[in-house]
Amino acid sequence: MPIFNMFYIISLLLLSILAFAEGESASESPSFQASAERGQKIYASVCIHCHKLTDEVSAVGGSGLQGVMMRYNADWLNTWLASPESFAKVNIIARKVLDANPYGLVMPILPDMTNEHKRLDMIEFLKTLK
Ligand code: HEC
Repeated sequence: MPIFNMFYIISLLLLSILAFAEGESASESPSFQASAERGQKIYASVCIHCHKLTDEVSAVGGSGLQGVMMRYNADWLNTWLASPESFAKVNIIARKVLDANPYGLVMPILPDMTNEHKRLDMIEFLKTLK
């Protein structure tokens, strides 16, 4: 019965699209485990250019990341890392942080940090900087 087959195929397609859409939200995907080790690798290739892991300000004026989880919670950091500029438009603390650099440098949108899994890995790593 070809018409039945067509419905069957269409509903399979719809189901896989729905599954994909759900998979987009990492925090709700049960198979994902955030990893501080993966976060550290991203730090070493991206963040290191502007941030130290101590409490010292870097050469370009980026604040030291030590103890950062005591200044912000994971939700705040998740939104900040995705897009500092967009967050600064709606969050007064983010606005202050973005404007705080002594040389007028603002934290850019980083391609790696547009991926939620990588943000969660990064936050897992930031938790280790006590
Ligand atoms: C091009 C430089 C640059 C890069 C790369 C960069 N940042 Fe930033 N970041 C800044 C600036 C500038 C600020 C805001 C003012 C400041 O802290 O100097 C900031 C602020 C922050 C803050 C808030 C710090 C605080 O104590 O208020 C966090 C957390 C942060 N960045 C994390 C990261 C992480 C994690 C990465 C890597 C994924 C990263 N940044 C990459 C420049 C950068």
